[in-house]
Amino acid sequence: MLNLPYLQMDRQLRIKKSNSTTLTEFVLLGFSDFPHLQWILFVVFLFIYFTILICNSVIILVSKTDAALQTPMYFFLSNFSFLEICYVTATIPRMLMDLCTQKGTISLLACATQMFFVLVLGGTECLLLTVMAYDRYVAICNPLQYPLLMNHRVCMQLVAASWISGVPVEIGQTYQIFSLPFCGSLRINHFFCDIPPMLKAACGDTFVNEMAVYMVAVVFVMVPFLLIVVSYGKIISNVLRLSSARGRAKAFSTCSSHLIVVVLFYGTASITYLQPKPDQSEGMGKLLSLFYTIFTPTFNPIIYTLRNKDIQVALKKLLNKLLT
Ligand SMILES: *[C@@H]1O[C@H](CO)[C@@H](O)[C@H](O)[C@H]1NC(C)=O
Repeated sequence: MLNLPYLQMDRQLRIKKSNSTTLTEFVLLGFSDFPHLQWILFVVFLFIYFTILICNSVIILVSKTDAALQTPMYFFLSNFSFLEICYVTATIPRMLMDLCTQKGTISLLACATQMFFVLVLGGTECLLLTVMAYDRYVAICNPLQYPLLMNHRVCMQLVAASWISGVPVEIGQTYQIFSLPFCGSLRINHFFCDIPPMLKAACGDTFVNEMAVYMVAVVFVMVPFLLIVVSYGKIISNVLRLSSARGRAKAFSTCSSHLIVVVLFYGTASITYLQPKPDQSEGMGKLLSLFYTIFTPTFNPIIYTLRNKDIQVALKKLLNKLLT
């Protein structure tokens, strides 16, 4: 049956382990609790991956080339699209390979590398979404000073800070987790190397690690989330005071759709990392991870960018140019 390769691998690993004390490989079990769904999952995730790649590449292309989109907002949105491509590339290709080969063996180094990239890019996503909320806040609540506050240098600095500030923290965190002893279980019941399943697989005291994960989650997930909620709160109250009924309806539809993906992304990430050694089942953990690693990046380009009138106009212009 489909589970057989895992069992064989387990035996091989046990032999390897008794030969040498240093552990070099893990087995990611992925979605092996649903052996009949493997091919459907493969097709679905392949489709999602290509959709994300294509939508985000189009967004980057259009916002770099169209003269009407040379604004801070589209500078952030195109960088955000680039980030989404990187973020899903850290998990989906590896997962597709595992679904295809029905083997989940992953070397210690590959596992650590994957965890590092998922955490750094996830942190960047948290910060960049906050920067984008702040940008909208200044544009709507402080329009006269907007060109001054959001000049090109500030935009570059905000984006660079979002990308860089997680790096040293996540080097430390990944290093700390992979210096734990892994004695018993080499089987990781997850579809990528994430913190909670690794802490579960580790033996020995993980209290210090859990505290570190908790603190990083507060700084990189909770604080940005609160800042976003405050920004949108101010935007909504400002719009309520000033605009027409039609303007209000439009602002509400934009803000509420942004807030839905923000709550899904930060909510599932907070539940996962604020409680790094979870009580909930591994199945629940996988479902939560699917939300912040795959589902929200799928919806983000649609919610944040493709619904905008300006980008739709720019897309039509580009298509016309290509077709004629
Ligand atoms: C986004 O910003 C990062 C960091 O400044 C940069 O390396 C990257 O090339 C940018 N990507 C796009 C598409 O603007």
